[in-house]
Amino acid sequence: MIDMHSHILPGIDDGARDAEVSLRLIEKDLRDDVTTICLTPHFNFERQSIEEFLHQRAQSFEVLKAAVAKQGWNVNFILGAEVAFSTALAEHPDIAKLCYDGTSCMLVELPAAYLPKWTSEVLDEMQLQGITPLLAHVERYTYFQNEPERLFHLLDDGCYAQVNATSIVKHKNAQKFIALLMKHNMVHCMGSDTHSMEKRPPMLKDASNFVQRKMGPQYLDSLNEMGVALATGKRISKPQPTPVRSIFGHYF
Ligand SMILES: [Fe+2]
Repeated sequence: MIDMHSHILPGIDDGARDAEVSLRLIEKDLRDDVTTICLTPHFNFERQSIEEFLHQRAQSFEVLKAAVAKQGWNVNFILGAEVAFSTALAEHPDIAKLCYDGTSCMLVELPAAYLPKWTSEVLDEMQLQGITPLLAHVERYTYFQNEPERLFHLLDDGCYAQVNATSIVKHKNAQKFIALLMKHNMVHCMGSDTHSMEKRPPMLKDASNFVQRKMGPQYLDSLNEMGVALATGKRISKPQPTPVRSIFGHYF
């Protein structure tokens, strides 16, 4: 299984504070049958340059690799970033460097409170530059929960969607919303988005069990295949999202 989204790299963002914490998170992912972990620390255009970020990420990755080698664990890592949405995504010449390593797919975090008017223009412009936006934890946004058609339009325009394992396992409302999105082909992959064992521990096994019960083993396999394809640059056909219908405030 692949973990598409994590803050396991030590000492670089609000995730693992040191390699010891990183190892505990990796150990849990391994127990959950995860074999490939995407390392996606936060990147924000307003806080640092892409070059500074890549340098820090490379240093942190060296620390992590040395710690993992001592354990003798067999795990694949893919470097990436969780990029805070910004109009710079439509203008900056080097944004491809923030994609999952060796691919043209970028994990993008939309603003928490509101969806800016120019969101689709920026995401379209990225795609014109050959970048595929993968929207992080789409289940967390109230603007998508209240108006799923807003997410539908972004996915229909070429974006992909990732959901968090903890939302599936721990949060009843998010769980219902994710089940609705899955029925409408509006989820493409899962990630732990783990920060620490206390704040959002990895739980992809429990999340997978839920998805398998709700949607069947083939669907679970297809989520994993789509995740691997996005994070490794393989071609895969994307299922067409279908619009969510609403009657008297109930979505189905
Ligand atoms: Fe994250």
